[in-house]
Amino acid sequence: MFPPVRHGLGLKMKTSEIRQRFLDYFAGRGHEVVPSSSLVPHGDPTLLFTNAGMVQFKHTFLGNEHRPYSTAVSSQKCVRAGGKHNDLENVGHTARHHTFFEMLGNFSFGDYFKKEAIAYAWDFLTRDLDIDPRRLFVTVFEEDDEAYDIWVDDIGIPKDRIARIGARDNFWSMGDTGPCGPCSEIFYDHGPEVAGGPPGTPDEDGDRFVEIWNLVFMQYNRDEDGTLSELPRPSVDTGMGLERIAAVMQGVHSNYDIDLFRNLIAAAASETGVKPGESEERDVSLRVLADHLRSVSFLLADGVLPSNEGRGFVLRRILRRACRHGRLLGMKEAFIYRLVDALVAEMGDHFTELKEARDNIRRVIRIEEERFIKTLDKGLKLVEQAVAEAGEGGTIPGRTLFTLYDTYGFPTDLTADILKGRNIRLDMDGFEICMDEQRQRARAAWGGSGESALPAAVFELREQHGATEFLGYSTLDAEGVITGLICGDQAVGEAGEGDEV
Ligand code: ALA
Repeated sequence: MFPPVRHGLGLKMKTSEIRQRFLDYFAGRGHEVVPSSSLVPHGDPTLLFTNAGMVQFKHTFLGNEHRPYSTAVSSQKCVRAGGKHNDLENVGHTARHHTFFEMLGNFSFGDYFKKEAIAYAWDFLTRDLDIDPRRLFVTVFEEDDEAYDIWVDDIGIPKDRIARIGARDNFWSMGDTGPCGPCSEIFYDHGPEVAGGPPGTPDEDGDRFVEIWNLVFMQYNRDEDGTLSELPRPSVDTGMGLERIAAVMQGVHSNYDIDLFRNLIAAAASETGVKPGESEERDVSLRVLADHLRSVSFLLADGVLPSNEGRGFVLRRILRRACRHGRLLGMKEAFIYRLVDALVAEMGDHFTELKEARDNIRRVIRIEEERFIKTLDKGLKLVEQAVAEAGEGGTIPGRTLFTLYDTYGFPTDLTADILKGRNIRLDMDGFEICMDEQRQRARAAWGGSGESALPAAVFELREQHGATEFLGYSTLDAEGVITGLICGDQAVGEAGEGDEV
């Protein structure tokens, strides 16, 4: 018989308590508790947003940067809405995708490796959280016999609950370059009442078997040519989605049913006057609003501002998607900014930057909403104009659909909805061609974040002289002493007039 959920800690354990329990577990085993870094990965031009816990430790893995500890634990703010790891299109439609989420992770910088990483993960899940081991399923990289043997021989996982999977899912890379390595993933089986199959089967994308924890055995650095070189010391990077483990612990099948999301959805429902559960369509909109509220607010708290390019454009697109869902729920005026208080109540105690930036976040969201509401009306006018030009039985050209989408922020499904019941067709193929052209333009234009990569000499100077203390939170000017110079990418002893150092 399928094991019933029996982890008794579950329903009482709030998301914030699970976060704390994870940090405490690893702190109690000698790991340094490191705060989440910013969503904007400063000094890394290869990445749009911080998309994993390991991002702030990238140079420690590479051996460029030494820290006073060799193991660490964190709960990292992550955004996956663009670039290599992008979940935007899935949000609202699956039980487990978000544009913003928190990644719990433990890290070893040349300290422990596979054996201990697997043992810690298993112990935390099955003993500390008391999850029934019969509900867990694991995967290893197909060539990684060592990890397979640890799971089978040391942990005792039955062979029918472990699968060997290829590089697409079980070789983790941060981006096109950087630290990477084979990984082992732990899945939770939500039970036969949920559709989906175990990893490696045709139904793996269903919501039944959900990946909760990824253990990456960091062994290589991938350079621009794709060549792998060994890292100085084999290391460990792990990532567990806080919202996913909270769903497991609270006995719900969707992340959107955990305490944190229920409260955000309730706030969105009360602002829009919609009751959750009225219809699947409306529930999708409520979930999108709750999800996008988090990414937009946290990005604003970390200093990203809406714009027409780069990070700011991703922020703007997310916010406009949220606005459209507000409109789908009948909202004609700005209202998303008012949801910020519910978010601060849920997450502001742990992420104090959210509390501190609350007024600013509300202000910027409101201005953006009000502005988009204006283009929404202009877009509606363009639709009517296109209808008049097309005439009865005619077709709206793909280029117009694209202008609606690109300039006025109208997704084609919105345009289609406005035209429902009228005898007008949409040239969707033409629209897709314009979208492809735009994607190619965007790919060609994204040459990194615009920041330059830090030369290795920065890390050498930091080793010699220590890091610069950042005072910017409390003062706008202060005195400093120049302890080293870098010219180009070399440390130099002196510089002459006209040198750029
Ligand atoms: N860095 C790994 C991930 O994001 C743990 O899945």
